[in-house]
Amino acid sequence: MARSALSKIDMSFPALDLTYDLAFARDVALGLTKSGQKELLSKYLYDELGSILFDAITVLPEYGLTRADSRLLERHSAEIAQALPGPVAVAELGSGTGSKTRHILQAFAGRHPLKYHPIDISPTALEKCRLALDGIPGVEIEPLHATYLQGLEAAASRRSAHESLLVLFLGSSIGNFDFEPARRFMRDVRSILRHGDALLLGVDLVKALPRMLAAYDDSLRVTAAFNLNLLARINRELGGEFSVRQFEHEARYNDEESRIEMHLRSRVAQTVRIAAIDRTIRFERGETIWTESSYKFRRSEVADLAVQTGFTLRAEWVDKEWPFAEALLRVG
Ligand code: AVI
Repeated sequence: MARSALSKIDMSFPALDLTYDLAFARDVALGLTKSGQKELLSKYLYDELGSILFDAITVLPEYGLTRADSRLLERHSAEIAQALPGPVAVAELGSGTGSKTRHILQAFAGRHPLKYHPIDISPTALEKCRLALDGIPGVEIEPLHATYLQGLEAAASRRSAHESLLVLFLGSSIGNFDFEPARRFMRDVRSILRHGDALLLGVDLVKALPRMLAAYDDSLRVTAAFNLNLLARINRELGGEFSVRQFEHEARYNDEESRIEMHLRSRVAQTVRIAAIDRTIRFERGETIWTESSYKFRRSEVADLAVQTGFTLRAEWVDKEWPFAEALLRVG
């Protein structure tokens, strides 16, 4: 069952206080007052502290995903560049970590000077990325402070007539979209591109259950802190009164949907007041808030995803240590 759209829920919240972030308050209100499964959108996991905790996750021994992504790019950037002859500009959805993207940029810059557009709604993330990648000979960095699709439109309109665009969407970020939204997003990306352009898509593959679970429930409890920080964020930003210790992190694998789900489980029956939405939320003992889905793919599904969204799967590289695929999708 896909996650239902929060926007479908009827909304009648009196006294929304405008000193709070209205979109965050609205989404929290909608997600926590749903009948049935309570939920919070995973994009809210990434405030300043959440982003630092996520960076820590990427170096945990149990979380092989980021290392696999980096290994593949380090090993195969030259082949990726060979698959895209002619002048290329590079746009990255999310500002990425310098180390992964560096391999790609160096492979193209060895051939011709190029523009690199990291796209992010976080100015801090863009600045970090610029600092990390500054100084690669032949690479001009032009950050775009925008949503992914708006930024991609800007990048596509700035390249010259003879340049093709390579879009990077790494780290299995597509796995955090639900089934239909993922397809919609890929079609939207495709509609901005033209013949000869390409999308390099990183996807985490289905693997043995204990490995998948440990990756989202590490022994140092960093992922637990990342998840619980969302309640702390509601306290900080929306006048919430969550006692964070009265919730626990849970990672489960939904086999039918091939996805890890992160939840926050209430240890006791309790009520929690949130000032910004002027509501008191009731939790049963054991009730959970669903905070994130992370879909795991089979290789055949990557090929299907390409076809369903108007791309052609041109090449694919798979990491042996940590099943993860880098798929090169072409337009035309
Ligand atoms: C960003 N994204 C691909 C991560 C993932 O694996 O789904 C987010 C994450 N959540 C918990 N650990 C990592």
